[in-house]
Amino acid sequence: MAEGFARALAAAVKAPSPHNTQPWRFEVRGSRIDVLLDPERVLPVSDPGARQARLACGAAAFNLVITLRAEGRRVSVRFLPGPRRLVSVDVPGRREPTEAERALAAAVHARHTNRRPFDDRPVPERARSALVAAAREDGAELHLLDRGARYDAVAALVRRAERLQETDERYLGEAGRWTGRPRGESSGVPATAAGPPASPAPALALREFAGSREMPAREYEQQPLLGVVTTRQPGQDTQAGFAVERVLLTATAHGLSASFLSQPFEVPGTRADLATLFRDEGEPHTLLRLGFGFTTPGLPRRPADEVTTVIEEPGRAEGLPG
Ligand SMILES: Cc1cc2nc3c(=O)[nH]c(=O)nc-3n(C[C@H](O)[C@H](O)[C@H](O)COP(=O)(O)O)c2cc1C
Repeated sequence: MAEGFARALAAAVKAPSPHNTQPWRFEVRGSRIDVLLDPERVLPVSDPGARQARLACGAAAFNLVITLRAEGRRVSVRFLPGPRRLVSVDVPGRREPTEAERALAAAVHARHTNRRPFDDRPVPERARSALVAAAREDGAELHLLDRGARYDAVAALVRRAERLQETDERYLGEAGRWTGRPRGESSGVPATAAGPPASPAPALALREFAGSREMPAREYEQQPLLGVVTTRQPGQDTQAGFAVERVLLTATAHGLSASFLSQPFEVPGTRADLATLFRDEGEPHTLLRLGFGFTTPGLPRRPADEVTTVIEEPGRAEGLPG
């Protein structure tokens, strides 16, 4: 396999995924890399329809593509209907990378989910418009909310979903199996990645992970900037993930931190209410909390070669064309 492919695959596995499950596989065939969903790594309780897992695969595809482009590869991307094969990335030749591509590719290794308190500094207008433009570039929309009736409605749905999950034994069992893991494991979320408990209670419930309770309580920002990513067409989870990763890397490049608030997507009732709230914009896929925070450490990953199959094509020379 060509060296550029190995770097792109190493970037792909840096993508975010629910509880760091890394629900992806990659297949390399000549100048083509396909991204596949790994059904064994879909969370059956919180993500029975694999929507969040497909979103994660879309994010991995974005990292793959941006790294290849930043290294001067011409790349074409096709989203596939699935259910397993989700994206096909073809690398037919070369072209000059842009500065923007280089900046986003550099952000891949610096982006980490930040569950800790942010400060109350508002996100500047320049960064906001860059985030909104980033989502649009890949055919999605980012709706930024920092106050008003819709903000309050979204925050209330997060709190409601959180309350329902707190008493759901199946959900708690699943979350317990994937979080609070000892250091050194290549999947799941270690206790060190949790945020401290919030005191006083902020406007939004930030999910407590195993590990939270061992830390002293801290004050969180009172009203974080929220971002909801939607697509016009329903069922475009993978495309949404591709756009979400561009948004997250753009945020990183602007010195911003982000975390996910997925509770309302994981409870059928609140998912439906969220869909109603954004009915005029399309289908909502994810909810982000954005702001300025201190840097957080990255989490481990399974190495790319553990999740990649190289399929030799008879009679074809190894390596990349061009
Ligand atoms: C679709 C999706 C949903 C997620 N939901 C949450 C969430 O509700 N709460 C949270 O703290 N992290 C959430 N995450 C973040 C993951 O836990 C994180 O990406 C993973 O542990 C890897 O860590 P990293 O993002 O720092 O590389 C989500 C990630 C994805 C892709």
